[in-house]
Amino acid sequence: MAVRNIRQLGDAILTKKCREIKEMTPRIRELIADMKDTMYDANGVGLAAPQVGVLKRVVVIDVGEGPIVLLNPRMLESSGEQTGEEGCLSVPGKYGIVTRPMHVKIEAWDEDMERIVLEGEELLARAICHEMEHLDGHTYVEKAEDGLHDVEEEA
Ligand code: NI
Repeated sequence: MAVRNIRQLGDAILTKKCREIKEMTPRIRELIADMKDTMYDANGVGLAAPQVGVLKRVVVIDVGEGPIVLLNPRMLESSGEQTGEEGCLSVPGKYGIVTRPMHVKIEAWDEDMERIVLEGEELLARAICHEMEHLDGHTYVEKAEDGLHDVEEEA
């Protein structure tokens, strides 16, 4: 188990564009394993590689149905709309209200560099959109409709 340090909002690496994965290597396998460990350790539902300081197009997501690994994810279709609370492991203790598609369809490559097509609704659609934005140097904070709120305020 290797939990990596999660970069926080304000770190310039979170504003950079990530590079595509061309081939699977032991180093990328290790990155994926560490990203899963880091996500679960932090009780998150998703993590993108720049959040652990690596500018590669790698995302891990688990909305409670097991881990999903997405390499080079690309949006194929999106539809509908949902508005709700969203947080990020790089912005601890905060949440914002963000509008996302209700349904998305993406293509990506899995850990074996096999092409996959994945459809997601509700939380999974939200997580996919959130994590894909990280790969282009963006965070949900830019989309939060009423600024950021403290998680404690809600509880
Ligand atoms: Ni995030």
